[in-house]
Amino acid sequence: MLQRARHILHQRDLKRAVLDDRELPTAWYNLAADLPEPVPPPLSPATGRPLDPEDLRPILSRTVIEQERTNRRWIEIPDEVRRVLAIWRPTPLVRARGLERALRTPARIYFKDESQSPPGSHKPNTAIPQAYYCQQEGVRRLTTETGAGQWGCSLSLACSMFGLECKVFMVRMTYEQRPYRRSMIRLWGGQVSPSPSEETVAGREVLASDPDCPGSLGIAISEAVETASRCDDTKYAMGSVLNHVMLHQTVIGLEAQVQFELFGDRPDVIIGCAGGGSNLAGLAFPFVPEKLRGQDIRLVAAESTACPTLTRGQYRYDFSDTSRLTPLVKMYTLGHDFVPPRIQAGGLRFHGMAPLVSLAAHLGLIEAVAYDQPECFQAARMFAATEGIVPALESSFAIRAAVVEALRCRETREEKCIVFCLSGHGLCDLGSYEQYLSGELRDVETPQAALDAAPAEGDCPLLAARS
Ligand SMILES: Cc1ncc(COP(=O)(O)O)c(C=O)c1O
Repeated sequence: MLQRARHILHQRDLKRAVLDDRELPTAWYNLAADLPEPVPPPLSPATGRPLDPEDLRPILSRTVIEQERTNRRWIEIPDEVRRVLAIWRPTPLVRARGLERALRTPARIYFKDESQSPPGSHKPNTAIPQAYYCQQEGVRRLTTETGAGQWGCSLSLACSMFGLECKVFMVRMTYEQRPYRRSMIRLWGGQVSPSPSEETVAGREVLASDPDCPGSLGIAISEAVETASRCDDTKYAMGSVLNHVMLHQTVIGLEAQVQFELFGDRPDVIIGCAGGGSNLAGLAFPFVPEKLRGQDIRLVAAESTACPTLTRGQYRYDFSDTSRLTPLVKMYTLGHDFVPPRIQAGGLRFHGMAPLVSLAAHLGLIEAVAYDQPECFQAARMFAATEGIVPALESSFAIRAAVVEALRCRETREEKCIVFCLSGHGLCDLGSYEQYLSGELRDVETPQAALDAAPAEGDCPLLAARS
């Protein structure tokens, strides 16, 4: 039966490569095992010295702390986790023939459709294992932040699957922009508050100096971490940035590798939008060993010009949150107190970038491009009109990058194979699409002065004390 399905899939006019749920990967791929340099160690926020993993125990589950540090190449996915992932995985790899035709490009464009999960994005790929490990360790409640709302929904779903409570601090701007995300969190049993909130010291401090603050991921992380650290039975779960999140997301690229075989193709350019780096890492990391062996594959991060972490940030140690509660990690950053302008793609408003993605970029394995909102809305509209799916605003940055690559192929007449991660659908982003369609959307630029205001690594008293 499987043989026959495979045979049919090999046809040249194949649209979607769909795998059986028995083909869901059984292990995650850990890039740390193959990078030519080790990831610089996280530093304690209290001393600036390398972190003792035990320091993370009050806020993170034991298993994810182990996964944070491991150099093992393959990490087994527990059966209980695979059973829940199988609700929507494996996700299809789709050939974007309509988009190719519209662009009149000789390039072959594919997208890995992560919009098919219950909350509509790649985020539950890591929410499920994080909630599972916490349940196994006797945790009662998880706290988190959410930028676009997708992660908050995903953790709420994951907690409901494993009988845990869930508390979400949602960046105020998205709390107001995406009310249906709030409803989804609550439907799955989670509790949600706009951040900055009056519920934490971190939130109250921000509100005292700026009562109208739109919030940022950095502030929301501070609130979620503070809440977890105050209660013994509560842990914190992060939706991007950390090594274990990159690890869990590799199911995306591992499935895509099998699906490319079914198409009889292989990618030349792999693209993901980049907020904290997890969907890009998920799709691209499993292909890095091929790149390291000399195969000509380009890995491209597409970010927003309003929050240009990889394209204009510095590679240095910094905090992930505004209140300096989280460990210092070496990453590309715009400075932990940088509050990005109010762009619609809330999931791309993070001042930092995953340490693994940052190191890969620093080593020249990943390149970065930045686009502004209007050109990405335009790409999203073209994608919706040709492929039928309304993309998440974050994903539209990856679509834009794919369009740019495909148009370049039209110029050069190269028949490249381009794949991007459709990290989510935009059915809860329709308010922003409405603004775009009625011409109310303005571009938001981050002035150089705002980036220059970020302190250098040497200005941090903790790091100065170290040297
Ligand atoms: C749909 C979607 N895509 C992309 C992102 C960016 O996150 P990451 O870079 O970790 O994939 C988000 C973040 O919230 C998101 O919701």
